[in-house]
Amino acid sequence: MTDTTWSSVDEYLGGKLLASDAALDGAHKASAAAGLPAIAVSPLQGRLLELIARSIGAKKVLEIGTLGGYSTICLARGVGRDGRVVSLEYEPRHAKVALASIAAAGLTDVVEVRVGKALDLLPGIADDGAGPFDLVFIDADKASNADYLDWSIRLARPGTVIIVDNVVRGGAVADPARFSPDALGNRRMFDLLEADERVDATAIQTVGSKGYDGFVYALVR
Ligand code: SAH
Ligand code: DHB
Ligand code: MG
Repeated sequence: MTDTTWSSVDEYLGGKLLASDAALDGAHKASAAAGLPAIAVSPLQGRLLELIARSIGAKKVLEIGTLGGYSTICLARGVGRDGRVVSLEYEPRHAKVALASIAAAGLTDVVEVRVGKALDLLPGIADDGAGPFDLVFIDADKASNADYLDWSIRLARPGTVIIVDNVVRGGAVADPARFSPDALGNRRMFDLLEADERVDATAIQTVGSKGYDGFVYALVR
C-alpha cells in the first residue's frame, strides 16, 4: 500500500529539512548493493531518531534489528562521540554490511553490533551491565515485539524512551481477519502495553515513502 503522494511529500520534506548526507547515502547504497531488503527507516524517520536521542540527552542506546546500519548511524549521531549504541542483528551478512557503513561514517567507536537472535543476546546484555539504556529502538522481527518490549523495560530506568517501529503494518494490527506474524506480534505487544504498569505509551500512524505504518513511543515510569 503505497500512495505516490506520500512519497512525493516525503521527498519534498526531505529536500527542505535534510542536508545531503554522504554517510547515510553510502549506507543506503551499500545495503542495496549487498542485496539487503530496502526496509531501513526513511531519511526523515532516521532524523527523528537522531533528534529524539539528542532531545533526551541519550548516551546509551539499544537497537534491536541493525540491517545495514542506517538507523544505527542516526542513533549514533544522536548520542554523540561520548555515547554508545549497542545494536543486535541476527543475520551475519547484514551485520557485516552495517559495520562497514558505520566505519565509513566514522562511528566505529560509538557502535557495537552483536550478532545473534535478539532473544538469545538480551540476557547477556542484562548481565554485562551495558544498560540501563536511555533509549531503545525496536525494529526486528515483529512477531517478537512483545518480548522485545518486555526486555527493553527490564533494561531501562525511569525516563527511558522506547520506540517500536512497524506497529500498524498497513492497518493489519486492527483487522481481526488478518493473522500474519506481524499483526499477531503487534497485537500481543499492545496487549502487554494495555496491562503494563511500567510504561506510559502512545502510538502514531504514519504514511510516507514506506507506505502506511506507525510506531509506538513509550516512556518508562
Ligand atoms: N533498523 C534498521 C532496519 C531493521 S530491518 C534500519 O532502520 O536501518 C529488521 C532487521 O532485524 C533485519 O536485519 C533482520 O535480519 C533482523 N532480525 C530479524 N529477526 C531478528 C532476531 N530474532 N534477532 C535480531 N535481529 C533480527
Ligand atoms: C518492513 C518495514 C520495516 O520498517 C521493517 O523493520 C521490516 C519490514 C516492510 O515494509 O516489509
Ligand atoms: Mg522498521
